Amino acid sequence: MILTRRTFLATTAASAFLPRVALATPITLRAEPVSAQILPETEPATRMLGLNGSTPGPELRLRQGETLSVLFDNQTDQGSAMHWHGIRIDNAMDGVPGLTQDLVEPGTTFDYNFVTPDPGTYWYHSHARSWEQVERGLYGPLIVEETNPPPVDHDITVIVDDWRMDRSGQLAGDFGNRHDFSHGGRLGNFARAVISRPSVRQGDRIRLRLINTATARIFPLEVTGIEGVIVALDGMPLPDPMPISDLVMAPAQRIDIIADVADPVSILIQTGEGPYELGQIALEGMNADPIINEIVGLPMTPTAMPAPTPDHALTLTMEGGAMGGRHSGEDLWGFNGQSNLTDTPFARFDRGQTARITLVNETAFPHGIHLHGHHFHEVAADGSLGPQRDTTLVNARETRDIVCVFDNPGQWLLHCHMLGHQAAGMKTWVQVA
Ligand code: C2O
Ligand code: CU
Repeated sequence: MILTRRTFLATTAASAFLPRVALATPITLRAEPVSAQILPETEPATRMLGLNGSTPGPELRLRQGETLSVLFDNQTDQGSAMHWHGIRIDNAMDGVPGLTQDLVEPGTTFDYNFVTPDPGTYWYHSHARSWEQVERGLYGPLIVEETNPPPVDHDITVIVDDWRMDRSGQLAGDFGNRHDFSHGGRLGNFARAVISRPSVRQGDRIRLRLINTATARIFPLEVTGIEGVIVALDGMPLPDPMPISDLVMAPAQRIDIIADVADPVSILIQTGEGPYELGQIALEGMNADPIINEIVGLPMTPTAMPAPTPDHALTLTMEGGAMGGRHSGEDLWGFNGQSNLTDTPFARFDRGQTARITLVNETAFPHGIHLHGHHFHEVAADGSLGPQRDTTLVNARETRDIVCVFDNPGQWLLHCHMLGHQAAGMKTWVQVA
Protein backbone atom coordinates (compact mmCIF):
# COMPACT_ATOMS: atom_id res chain seq x y z
CA MET A 1 0.00 0.00 0.00
CA ILE A 2 1.53 3.30 -1.07
CA LEU A 3 0.22 6.16 0.99
CA THR A 4 -0.11 9.48 -0.68
CA ARG A 5 -1.03 12.75 0.92
CA ARG A 6 -3.84 12.94 -1.59
CA THR A 7 -5.28 9.78 -0.04
CA PHE A 8 -6.55 12.15 2.62
CA LEU A 9 -8.71 15.26 2.56
CA ALA A 10 -6.71 18.41 2.00
CA THR A 11 -7.54 19.74 5.45
CA THR A 12 -4.91 19.46 8.18
CA ALA A 13 -5.67 17.21 11.10
CA ALA A 14 -5.99 19.45 14.12
CA SER A 15 -5.18 17.52 17.28
CA ALA A 16 -8.24 16.26 19.06
CA PHE A 17 -8.38 15.39 22.69
CA LEU A 18 -10.00 12.57 24.56
CA PRO A 19 -12.94 13.81 26.55
CA ARG A 20 -12.46 12.40 30.02
CA VAL A 21 -11.32 9.58 32.18
CA ALA A 22 -13.74 7.42 34.09
CA LEU A 23 -11.81 6.12 37.06
CA ALA A 24 -14.22 4.28 39.21
CA THR A 25 -16.55 1.47 38.38
CA PRO A 26 -19.42 0.61 38.35
CA ILE A 27 -20.11 2.78 35.38
CA THR A 28 -22.92 2.95 32.86
CA LEU A 29 -21.81 3.07 29.23
CA ARG A 30 -24.69 4.46 27.22
CA ALA A 31 -24.41 3.89 23.47
CA GLU A 32 -26.24 6.68 21.71
CA PRO A 33 -26.19 9.03 18.73
CA VAL A 34 -23.72 11.90 19.21
CA SER A 35 -22.49 14.81 17.18
CA ALA A 36 -18.69 14.85 17.06
CA GLN A 37 -16.11 17.30 15.75
CA ILE A 38 -14.13 14.78 13.74
CA LEU A 39 -12.96 17.28 11.11
CA PRO A 40 -11.18 20.49 12.16
CA GLU A 41 -13.30 23.23 13.80
CA THR A 42 -13.80 25.06 10.52
CA GLU A 43 -15.75 22.06 9.18
CA PRO A 44 -19.14 20.79 10.25
CA ALA A 45 -19.63 18.32 13.09
CA THR A 46 -20.34 14.71 12.15
CA ARG A 47 -23.30 12.57 13.20
CA MET A 48 -21.78 9.54 14.91
CA LEU A 49 -22.50 7.00 17.61
CA GLY A 50 -20.76 7.42 20.94
CA LEU A 51 -20.65 6.37 24.56
CA ASN A 52 -21.81 8.73 27.29
CA GLY A 53 -21.96 11.59 24.82
CA SER A 54 -18.64 11.27 23.02
CA THR A 55 -16.66 9.25 20.56
CA PRO A 56 -14.21 7.79 21.43
CA GLY A 57 -16.07 6.81 24.58
CA PRO A 58 -14.62 7.64 27.99
CA GLU A 59 -11.27 6.18 28.88
CA LEU A 60 -11.87 3.42 31.41
CA ARG A 61 -8.87 3.23 33.70
CA LEU A 62 -8.41 0.87 36.62
CA ARG A 63 -5.76 -0.99 38.57
CA GLN A 64 -4.67 -4.55 37.93
CA GLY A 65 -6.92 -6.97 39.78
CA GLU A 66 -9.81 -4.54 40.12
CA THR A 67 -13.26 -5.45 38.88
CA LEU A 68 -14.65 -3.65 35.88
CA SER A 69 -18.37 -3.39 36.23
CA VAL A 70 -20.13 -1.83 33.25
CA LEU A 71 -23.82 -1.51 32.64
CA PHE A 72 -24.04 -1.32 28.86
CA ASP A 73 -27.16 0.63 27.93
CA ASN A 74 -27.97 0.46 24.25
CA GLN A 75 -29.77 3.63 23.19
CA THR A 76 -29.01 3.20 19.49
CA ASP A 77 -31.42 1.77 16.95
CA GLN A 78 -29.32 -1.35 16.27
CA GLY A 79 -28.63 -4.41 18.37
CA SER A 80 -25.13 -4.17 19.87
CA ALA A 81 -22.68 -5.73 22.35
CA MET A 82 -19.39 -4.60 23.87
CA HIS A 83 -16.13 -6.51 23.47
CA TRP A 84 -13.11 -5.92 25.75
CA HIS A 85 -10.34 -6.35 23.25
CA GLY A 86 -7.23 -8.17 24.42
CA ILE A 87 -8.23 -8.82 28.00
CA ARG A 88 -8.04 -12.40 29.23
CA ILE A 89 -11.45 -12.56 30.83
CA ASP A 90 -14.31 -14.86 31.52
CA ASN A 91 -15.80 -16.10 28.23
CA ALA A 92 -19.33 -15.02 29.16
CA MET A 93 -18.11 -11.39 29.32
CA ASP A 94 -16.41 -11.39 25.91
CA GLY A 95 -19.23 -9.58 24.15
CA VAL A 96 -19.62 -11.62 20.97
CA PRO A 97 -23.27 -11.91 19.91
CA GLY A 98 -24.12 -15.38 18.70
CA LEU A 99 -21.15 -16.97 20.48
CA THR A 100 -20.95 -15.68 24.05
CA GLN A 101 -24.17 -13.70 24.47
CA ASP A 102 -27.32 -12.49 22.74
CA LEU A 103 -27.50 -9.14 21.00
CA VAL A 104 -28.28 -6.29 23.36
CA GLU A 105 -31.40 -5.04 21.64
CA PRO A 106 -32.14 -1.31 21.33
CA GLY A 107 -33.47 0.07 24.59
CA THR A 108 -32.09 -2.79 26.68
CA THR A 109 -29.01 -3.27 28.87
CA PHE A 110 -26.33 -5.87 29.59
CA ASP A 111 -24.14 -6.19 32.67
CA TYR A 112 -20.43 -6.73 32.08
CA ASN A 113 -18.49 -7.71 35.14
CA PHE A 114 -14.97 -9.03 35.23
CA VAL A 115 -11.66 -8.86 37.02
CA THR A 116 -8.83 -7.42 34.97
CA PRO A 117 -6.03 -9.95 35.43
CA ASP A 118 -3.24 -8.24 33.47
CA PRO A 119 -2.08 -4.64 33.33
CA GLY A 120 -1.80 -3.10 29.89
CA THR A 121 -3.30 -1.04 27.12
CA TYR A 122 -6.58 -2.42 25.82
CA TRP A 123 -9.71 -1.04 24.23
CA TYR A 124 -13.39 -1.75 24.04
CA HIS A 125 -15.54 -1.76 20.94
CA SER A 126 -18.85 -2.92 19.61
CA HIS A 127 -18.78 -6.49 18.32
CA ALA A 128 -22.13 -6.28 16.52
CA ARG A 129 -22.11 -5.09 12.90
CA SER A 130 -18.65 -3.95 13.96
CA TRP A 131 -17.69 -2.83 10.44
CA GLU A 132 -20.44 -0.23 10.83
CA GLN A 133 -20.70 0.40 14.59
CA VAL A 134 -16.95 0.80 15.20
CA GLU A 135 -16.70 3.07 12.17
CA ARG A 136 -19.59 5.12 13.53
CA GLY A 137 -17.81 5.53 16.86
CA LEU A 138 -18.72 2.81 19.37
CA TYR A 139 -15.35 2.28 21.01
CA GLY A 140 -13.00 3.66 23.65
CA PRO A 141 -9.73 3.00 25.49
CA LEU A 142 -9.44 0.60 28.42
CA ILE A 143 -6.31 1.01 30.51
CA VAL A 144 -5.26 -1.35 33.28
CA GLU A 145 -2.47 0.15 35.38
CA GLU A 146 0.31 -1.86 36.95
CA THR A 147 0.23 -2.20 40.71
CA ASN A 148 3.46 -0.20 40.70
CA PRO A 149 3.40 1.82 37.49
CA PRO A 150 6.80 2.90 36.14
CA PRO A 151 7.62 6.48 37.06
CA VAL A 152 6.52 8.94 34.36
CA ASP A 153 5.30 12.53 34.42
CA HIS A 154 2.36 11.80 32.15
CA ASP A 155 0.56 8.69 30.98
CA ILE A 156 -0.97 9.60 27.62
CA THR A 157 -3.38 7.67 25.41
CA VAL A 158 -3.13 8.17 21.65
CA ILE A 159 -5.87 6.73 19.46
CA VAL A 160 -5.27 6.71 15.71
CA ASP A 161 -8.22 6.28 13.39
CA ASP A 162 -9.51 7.19 9.96
CA TRP A 163 -12.94 8.00 8.61
CA ARG A 164 -14.50 8.12 5.19
CA MET A 165 -16.26 11.46 4.93
CA ASP A 166 -18.58 12.77 2.26
CA ARG A 167 -18.53 16.39 1.04
CA SER A 168 -20.88 17.55 3.77
CA GLY A 169 -18.61 16.24 6.53
CA GLN A 170 -20.80 13.21 7.32
CA LEU A 171 -19.71 9.58 7.29
CA ALA A 172 -20.14 8.15 3.81
CA GLY A 173 -23.11 5.83 4.25
CA ASP A 174 -22.06 2.69 2.41
CA PHE A 175 -20.79 0.71 5.40
CA GLY A 176 -21.51 -2.68 3.85
CA ASN A 177 -19.83 -1.89 0.52
CA ARG A 178 -18.84 -5.23 -1.04
CA HIS A 179 -16.07 -3.63 -3.06
CA ASP A 180 -14.44 -2.40 0.16
CA PHE A 181 -15.00 -5.78 1.79
CA SER A 182 -13.29 -7.66 -1.04
CA HIS A 183 -10.32 -5.27 -1.10
CA GLY A 184 -8.53 -3.56 1.80
CA GLY A 185 -11.70 -2.75 3.76
CA ARG A 186 -13.22 0.66 4.39
CA LEU A 187 -10.25 3.00 4.24
CA GLY A 188 -10.95 6.58 5.28
CA ASN A 189 -10.13 9.83 3.53
CA PHE A 190 -9.44 11.61 6.81
CA ALA A 191 -7.17 10.40 9.59
CA ARG A 192 -6.05 11.83 12.89
CA ALA A 193 -4.91 11.03 16.39
CA VAL A 194 -7.07 11.60 19.46
CA ILE A 195 -4.75 12.34 22.36
CA SER A 196 -5.54 12.46 26.07
CA ARG A 197 -3.32 15.46 26.78
CA PRO A 198 -2.60 18.63 24.79
CA SER A 199 0.84 19.55 26.16
CA VAL A 200 3.86 18.39 28.12
CA ARG A 201 7.04 20.05 29.36
CA GLN A 202 10.41 19.67 27.71
CA GLY A 203 12.25 17.02 29.70
CA ASP A 204 9.12 15.23 30.87
CA ARG A 205 9.16 11.46 30.86
CA ILE A 206 5.97 10.19 29.24
CA ARG A 207 4.26 6.94 28.56
CA LEU A 208 2.42 6.83 25.24
CA ARG A 209 -0.27 4.23 24.74
CA LEU A 210 -0.93 4.00 21.00
CA ILE A 211 -4.14 2.27 19.89
CA ASN A 212 -5.23 1.76 16.28
CA THR A 213 -9.03 1.75 16.31
CA ALA A 214 -9.47 1.97 12.53
CA THR A 215 -11.70 -0.62 10.90
CA ALA A 216 -9.19 -1.37 8.14
CA ARG A 217 -6.23 0.98 7.91
CA ILE A 218 -2.73 -0.15 8.83
CA PHE A 219 -0.88 2.89 10.18
CA PRO A 220 2.88 3.04 9.57
CA LEU A 221 3.40 5.55 12.37
CA GLU A 222 6.30 7.72 13.32
CA VAL A 223 6.60 9.57 16.61
CA THR A 224 9.07 12.43 16.65
CA GLY A 225 10.26 14.66 19.50
CA ILE A 226 10.93 11.86 21.98
CA GLU A 227 13.77 9.55 22.96
CA GLY A 228 12.88 6.24 24.49
CA VAL A 229 11.80 2.66 23.93
CA ILE A 230 8.82 0.43 23.15
CA VAL A 231 7.93 -1.41 26.36
CA ALA A 232 4.80 -3.37 25.43
CA LEU A 233 2.86 -4.68 22.44
CA ASP A 234 -0.89 -5.36 22.62
CA GLY A 235 -0.74 -4.77 26.36
CA MET A 236 1.95 -7.40 27.02
CA PRO A 237 5.34 -6.19 28.32
CA LEU A 238 8.38 -7.00 26.21
CA PRO A 239 11.17 -8.90 27.98
CA ASP A 240 13.61 -6.47 26.36
CA PRO A 241 12.39 -3.00 25.40
CA MET A 242 12.84 -2.26 21.69
CA PRO A 243 13.98 0.90 19.93
CA ILE A 244 11.21 3.11 18.60
CA SER A 245 11.18 2.20 14.92
CA ASP A 246 8.84 0.27 12.64
CA LEU A 247 5.70 1.44 14.38
CA VAL A 248 3.45 -0.42 11.98
CA MET A 249 0.06 -0.83 13.57
CA ALA A 250 -2.62 -3.11 12.18
CA PRO A 251 -6.20 -2.42 13.24
CA ALA A 252 -6.70 -3.20 16.96
CA GLN A 253 -2.98 -3.36 17.76
CA ARG A 254 -1.44 -1.35 20.61
CA ILE A 255 2.07 -0.11 21.33
CA ASP A 256 3.30 1.29 24.66
CA ILE A 257 6.26 3.64 24.63
CA ILE A 258 8.17 5.20 27.52
CA ALA A 259 10.28 8.15 26.46
CA ASP A 260 11.69 11.55 27.37
CA VAL A 261 10.38 14.64 25.62
CA ALA A 262 12.96 16.65 23.67
CA ASP A 263 10.75 18.57 21.25
CA PRO A 264 7.04 18.94 20.49
CA VAL A 265 5.74 15.39 20.04
CA SER A 266 4.36 14.69 16.62
CA ILE A 267 2.43 11.57 15.58
CA LEU A 268 2.70 11.22 11.83
CA ILE A 269 2.74 8.95 8.85
CA GLN A 270 5.13 9.25 5.93
CA THR A 271 3.48 9.53 2.57
CA GLY A 272 4.84 9.70 -0.96
CA GLU A 273 4.68 13.48 -0.74
CA GLY A 274 6.06 13.97 2.76
CA PRO A 275 4.85 13.58 6.32
CA TYR A 276 1.15 13.78 7.23
CA GLU A 277 0.68 14.80 10.84
CA LEU A 278 -2.09 13.00 12.70
CA GLY A 279 -1.69 14.89 15.94
CA GLN A 280 0.68 16.79 18.20
CA ILE A 281 1.48 17.21 21.85
CA ALA A 282 2.73 20.76 22.32
CA LEU A 283 5.59 21.86 24.54
CA GLU A 284 4.74 24.11 27.45
CA GLY A 285 7.60 24.99 29.72
CA MET A 286 10.47 22.94 30.91
CA ASN A 287 10.79 20.24 33.52
CA ALA A 288 13.41 21.56 35.95
CA ASP A 289 13.68 18.26 37.79
CA PRO A 290 13.45 15.54 35.15
CA ILE A 291 13.47 11.81 35.86
CA ILE A 292 16.98 10.77 34.91
CA ASN A 293 17.03 7.05 35.70
CA GLU A 294 17.48 4.84 32.70
CA ILE A 295 14.17 3.69 31.21
CA VAL A 296 13.72 0.03 32.04
CA GLY A 297 11.06 -2.40 30.85
CA LEU A 298 7.78 -3.16 32.53
CA PRO A 299 7.47 -6.07 34.94
CA MET A 300 6.54 -9.18 32.95
CA THR A 301 2.97 -10.40 33.06
CA PRO A 302 2.97 -13.99 34.29
CA THR A 303 1.61 -16.10 31.44
CA ALA A 304 1.76 -19.84 30.89
CA MET A 305 4.94 -21.10 29.19
CA PRO A 306 4.22 -22.95 25.94
CA ALA A 307 5.17 -26.62 25.95
CA PRO A 308 8.42 -27.20 24.00
CA THR A 309 6.59 -29.69 21.80
CA PRO A 310 3.12 -28.39 20.96
CA ASP A 311 0.10 -30.60 21.58
CA HIS A 312 -1.42 -29.40 18.31
CA ALA A 313 0.14 -28.29 15.02
CA LEU A 314 -2.47 -26.55 12.91
CA THR A 315 -2.65 -24.49 9.75
CA LEU A 316 -5.02 -21.60 9.17
CA THR A 317 -5.02 -20.44 5.56
CA MET A 318 -6.47 -17.05 4.66
CA GLU A 319 -8.26 -17.22 1.35
CA GLY A 320 -10.44 -15.18 -0.97
CA GLY A 321 -10.81 -11.51 -1.73
CA ALA A 322 -10.23 -9.56 -4.91
CA MET A 323 -7.29 -9.99 -7.27
CA GLY A 324 -7.33 -13.72 -7.67
CA GLY A 325 -8.12 -14.95 -4.18
CA ARG A 326 -10.11 -18.05 -5.13
CA HIS A 327 -11.48 -20.37 -2.47
CA SER A 328 -14.30 -22.74 -1.77
CA GLY A 329 -16.07 -20.77 0.97
CA GLU A 330 -19.44 -19.17 0.37
CA ASP A 331 -18.55 -15.57 1.16
CA LEU A 332 -15.82 -13.22 -0.10
CA TRP A 333 -13.23 -14.47 2.36
CA GLY A 334 -12.56 -17.65 4.29
CA PHE A 335 -10.20 -19.71 6.38
CA ASN A 336 -9.35 -23.23 5.22
CA GLY A 337 -12.09 -23.29 2.57
CA GLN A 338 -14.86 -22.11 4.85
CA SER A 339 -16.50 -18.75 5.32
CA ASN A 340 -18.06 -17.50 8.55
CA LEU A 341 -18.79 -19.42 11.73
CA THR A 342 -19.53 -23.10 11.38
CA ASP A 343 -21.14 -25.35 13.99
CA THR A 344 -17.86 -27.08 14.67
CA PRO A 345 -14.86 -25.03 15.80
CA PHE A 346 -11.61 -24.71 13.87
CA ALA A 347 -9.98 -26.56 16.78
CA ARG A 348 -10.75 -27.96 20.24
CA PHE A 349 -8.21 -27.75 23.01
CA ASP A 350 -8.02 -29.16 26.48
CA ARG A 351 -7.34 -26.43 28.94
CA GLY A 352 -3.61 -25.68 29.10
CA GLN A 353 -2.65 -27.28 25.81
CA THR A 354 -0.11 -25.62 23.55
CA ALA A 355 -0.83 -25.16 19.85
CA ARG A 356 1.40 -23.99 17.06
CA ILE A 357 -0.69 -22.43 14.31
CA THR A 358 0.78 -21.64 10.91
CA LEU A 359 -1.02 -18.61 9.49
CA VAL A 360 -0.79 -18.74 5.71
CA ASN A 361 -1.91 -15.69 3.77
CA GLU A 362 -2.77 -16.81 0.24
CA THR A 363 -4.58 -13.59 -0.55
CA ALA A 364 -3.47 -10.35 -2.18
CA PHE A 365 -4.14 -8.32 0.99
CA PRO A 366 -2.69 -8.00 4.49
CA HIS A 367 -4.78 -9.30 7.41
CA GLY A 368 -4.60 -8.57 11.12
CA ILE A 369 -5.53 -11.86 12.76
CA HIS A 370 -6.99 -11.56 16.26
CA LEU A 371 -7.59 -14.29 18.82
CA HIS A 372 -10.02 -13.60 21.65
CA GLY A 373 -9.33 -14.37 25.29
CA HIS A 374 -5.61 -15.18 24.90
CA HIS A 375 -2.26 -13.79 23.89
CA PHE A 376 0.01 -15.84 21.63
CA HIS A 377 3.69 -15.64 20.77
CA GLU A 378 4.68 -14.59 17.28
CA VAL A 379 7.40 -17.02 16.19
CA ALA A 380 10.45 -15.14 14.92
CA ALA A 381 12.27 -16.01 11.69
CA ASP A 382 14.95 -17.90 13.67
CA GLY A 383 12.27 -20.03 15.30
CA SER A 384 12.43 -18.36 18.70
CA LEU A 385 9.33 -17.23 20.54
CA GLY A 386 8.76 -13.55 19.87
CA PRO A 387 6.56 -11.02 21.62
CA GLN A 388 3.12 -11.91 22.89
CA ARG A 389 0.27 -10.33 20.99
CA ASP A 390 -3.45 -10.68 20.55
CA THR A 391 -3.44 -9.43 16.95
CA THR A 392 -0.78 -10.27 14.37
CA LEU A 393 -0.31 -8.64 10.99
CA VAL A 394 0.25 -11.14 8.18
CA ASN A 395 1.09 -9.44 4.91
CA ALA A 396 -0.05 -10.62 1.48
CA ARG A 397 1.52 -13.99 0.57
CA GLU A 398 3.28 -14.12 3.94
CA THR A 399 3.28 -17.01 6.43
CA ARG A 400 3.66 -16.59 10.18
CA ASP A 401 3.62 -19.13 12.97
CA ILE A 402 2.10 -18.36 16.31
CA VAL A 403 2.32 -20.42 19.49
CA CYS A 404 -0.44 -20.20 22.06
CA VAL A 405 -1.26 -21.81 25.37
CA PHE A 406 -5.03 -22.21 25.33
CA ASP A 407 -5.69 -21.86 29.03
CA ASN A 408 -8.87 -19.81 29.09
CA PRO A 409 -11.96 -22.02 28.87
CA GLY A 410 -14.78 -21.13 26.51
CA GLN A 411 -15.62 -20.39 22.90
CA TRP A 412 -13.28 -17.84 21.42
CA LEU A 413 -13.42 -16.02 18.14
CA LEU A 414 -10.44 -16.02 15.79
CA HIS A 415 -10.84 -13.51 13.00
CA CYS A 416 -9.41 -10.83 10.80
CA HIS A 417 -9.62 -7.42 12.48
CA MET A 418 -10.06 -5.70 9.15
CA LEU A 419 -13.69 -5.55 10.12
CA GLY A 420 -15.08 -5.74 6.59
CA HIS A 421 -13.10 -8.93 6.03
CA GLN A 422 -14.56 -10.65 9.05
CA ALA A 423 -18.01 -9.39 8.05
CA ALA A 424 -17.49 -11.10 4.69
CA GLY A 425 -16.38 -14.47 6.01
CA MET A 426 -12.89 -14.29 7.50
CA LYS A 427 -13.70 -15.63 10.92
CA THR A 428 -13.78 -18.88 12.84
CA TRP A 429 -13.70 -19.97 16.48
CA VAL A 430 -11.95 -22.31 18.86
CA GLN A 431 -13.20 -24.27 21.84
CA VAL A 432 -11.17 -24.56 25.02
CA ALA A 433 -12.57 -27.21 27.35
CU1 C2O B 1 -11.34 -6.38 18.69
CU2 C2O B 1 -13.24 -9.82 17.75
O1 C2O B 1 -12.33 -8.05 18.20
CU1 CU C 1 -8.46 -9.40 6.57
